[in-house]
Amino acid sequence: MAYQNPNISEALPVIRQLDEAAINRIAAGEVVERPASAVKELVENAIDAGARQVTIEYADGGKTLIRVTDDGCGIASSDLMLALSRHATSKIDGSDLLNIHTFGFRGEALPSLGAVGRLTISSRVAGQDGAEVSINGGQAGPVRPAALNGGTVVTLRNLFFATPARLKFLRTDRAEAQAIADIIKRLAMAEPFVRFILRDVSGDGPGREVFRADAEQGDMFAALQGRLAQVLGREFAENALAVDAERDGLHLTGFAALPTYSRGSAVMQYLFVNGRPVRDKLLVGALRGAYFDLLSRDRHPAAALFIDCDPTLVDVNVHPAKSEVRFRDPGIARGLIVSGLRHALADAGHRASTTVANATLGAMRPEQLTARVYQMDRPSVVARGTAYQAQAPEPGFAETAGM
Ligand SMILES: Nc1ncnc2c1ncn2[C@@H]1O[C@H](COP(=O)(O)OP(=O)(O)O)[C@@H](O)[C@H]1O
Ligand SMILES: [Mg+2]
Repeated sequence: MAYQNPNISEALPVIRQLDEAAINRIAAGEVVERPASAVKELVENAIDAGARQVTIEYADGGKTLIRVTDDGCGIASSDLMLALSRHATSKIDGSDLLNIHTFGFRGEALPSLGAVGRLTISSRVAGQDGAEVSINGGQAGPVRPAALNGGTVVTLRNLFFATPARLKFLRTDRAEAQAIADIIKRLAMAEPFVRFILRDVSGDGPGREVFRADAEQGDMFAALQGRLAQVLGREFAENALAVDAERDGLHLTGFAALPTYSRGSAVMQYLFVNGRPVRDKLLVGALRGAYFDLLSRDRHPAAALFIDCDPTLVDVNVHPAKSEVRFRDPGIARGLIVSGLRHALADAGHRASTTVANATLGAMRPEQLTARVYQMDRPSVVARGTAYQAQAPEPGFAETAGM
């Protein structure tokens, strides 16, 4: 070594095993970049637990407080300690990393959050007593009895208090709150049967509801339509075309806006792979490619697209935050998006502009819905419990479908 490492006194480097808290702080650097990533991990846990309702509260952009309350299956008091330890998960047994059906599987989020913030988990499994445990900067306290009705409440205070360097990189409360809302909207689109409530509880007083999406009914396609209209708004719904295409085992569904509804930046591009929100360069590039001839360079298409396939055709274990994926054959995914969207757009273009609206999400009628099972290969417990065979539109749907 050319210089003396000020952290180590010995002249000869000695290899030492880092302790658990240090390991978790290092891991947290990858899993938890900002408050929104903590929110993402906690809400994904709630969905994996089969929650029908998830309430997310935050204060000061999530820097001082994040609280996620769910009505899912809960954690047994005897498992609470284990849930805080690294690589402990109830979602896989480790034998098949290509066959993932849940958001989580790495067993990293809770120990990471507990290493860099003050985390309390209160939980109750039906028929058992409630319990809670706290972990502050990697120091776990004892498991204690707790009073709650059921499900789980995870409270995260003072995120990054234990890693001040990371604190300095956080943006304004407003920007962090915006990022939280964006994550919640993405997850709300991915899980239309789950009710989401997002509240800003900064300061004193009752707080302010930032976003709400009530649980959708019906089959997956109808539910997705309803949820997209709730999350992206009426204007998107009225300007978006249904997309449904298949190629070599990959299935593309969703809605893509007419070129006239383009945006000045790529803010309205929502991509999902097997039900997981992703920010994937390949897919975003394909979306751009599909509109290449229709939009000028400074305009960006708006779309919510879902690619579903056998989980073995795509690797989600590329990055700890799991927002990137790797397709076994990227060319197929790209080609599917480009051709699927171009078809939908060309069809719309062939009709007179006054009738184009009839093909959009806002004007969709049950008989125009593709009668097929929306295949989500990462079915959450909720989705699994939902009767998929109910593909026929509900009686009375025609009256309520026009949004
Ligand atoms: N909201 C929740 N409801 C029920 N169980 C939960 C919840 N959050 C976490 N758990 C349990 O704690 C375990 C560890 O969570 P986490 O660290 O996020 O890892 P992962 O989600 O990858 O399994 C989960 O596998 C699950 O069993
Ligand atoms: Mg998790």
